[in-house]
Amino acid sequence: MLKWINEAALKDYPAITEAEAREALSLCISGVLHYAEDFADRFPYACSKNGFYEPVPNRGWTTGFYTGQIWLAYENADTEEDREKLLQYGRRQVESFDERIRKKIDVDHHDMGFLYTPSCVAAYKLTGSEKAKKAAILAADQLVSRFQPVGEFLQAWGEMGAKDNYRFIIDCLLNLPLLYWADTETHSSDHHYRETAEKHIHTAMRYVIREDDSTWHTIFMDPVTGKFDHGATCQGYQDGSAWARGQAWGIYGTAMAYRYTGRDDYIGYFKRVTAYFLNHLPKDLCPCWDLTFGDGDGESRDSSSAVIAACGMLEMSRFLPETESLTYTGIAKKLLKAMADHYSVRDIGKAGGRLLHGTYSKKSPYNTCTPEGVDECVLWGDYYYMEGLNRVLHPSWNVYW
Ligand code: GLY
Repeated sequence: MLKWINEAALKDYPAITEAEAREALSLCISGVLHYAEDFADRFPYACSKNGFYEPVPNRGWTTGFYTGQIWLAYENADTEEDREKLLQYGRRQVESFDERIRKKIDVDHHDMGFLYTPSCVAAYKLTGSEKAKKAAILAADQLVSRFQPVGEFLQAWGEMGAKDNYRFIIDCLLNLPLLYWADTETHSSDHHYRETAEKHIHTAMRYVIREDDSTWHTIFMDPVTGKFDHGATCQGYQDGSAWARGQAWGIYGTAMAYRYTGRDDYIGYFKRVTAYFLNHLPKDLCPCWDLTFGDGDGESRDSSSAVIAACGMLEMSRFLPETESLTYTGIAKKLLKAMADHYSVRDIGKAGGRLLHGTYSKKSPYNTCTPEGVDECVLWGDYYYMEGLNRVLHPSWNVYW
């Protein structure tokens, strides 16, 4: 069943124990609390500079990952006093997300799920906040407005319909749980949230995975025929290479695609993208920023990809038969152990994040990205590290996604 995973490369690496996961998560919670006042009414920027985050307004695609850390810390806090503090911080941030969506501040893109799931959906699930619920539903409406019927996908960025932006990206699979949640919460009679999500999923599943099981980062569609036009990268090394985080979004994204559609063929897709990712890991289990590179290439790592992949495997393992489930859970725990031992922030005074050695966007001769956040903490890396540890401690956790 897993014959194509190079299990020998993973065999000798230990899995994180419950006690180690608890200790690592406690350290993360101390970090969140230590810096919380700096970000009470603002948010950490997407990536750190020399290990520390600058406070910025609620803009861009990443701020939800900060509020998500507050909620994970709230769920796992050691004392009532910390829990109460975290609850207040979380509530203040919900106010900001509510204002952002009502005033439509920087929401003309597809990242409504990344923004509103770990912030407002989590707040609603944990505290019953009606304000959070309404804000998240508005965000779901905003996401649905990005749907392109010709090609059946959610347009990622830019002016709707513009030919140079007629594309979706692999990351969007993680934006879709917001639509399924909205479908349930609104008791939508026409199920337009769910149908939109499903159409996008089916289009994405059809095109993002290449023959060798690596993935496209972005897919351009033909605006006239609605057919696949071409694949391209933004943050990967080059068009045909496997950007590590794209592959990791593919792992968690295919797990979510299965969770919400129940289509058996998506289990196969999950296994393929996961195997490719695992087979391209360096010996210490932290991927280079593009899977083209490995041990000895001297390229920067992207620890955030390792923790996204671990969360995806832990999610998928909920739906698999026992032996397979144990395999993926075991591998995810190895990745988390590697991160806790060698990539996490151990001294909270020395860095503002939870996980070191992430890469946001690295320039190559072949990509068009603006370089930033190379070998830094990245906000989603911090979040998914905490989510992964939390999943190890609470296997039946009520997921935000
Ligand atoms: N979703 C954008 C990124 O992973 O950098």
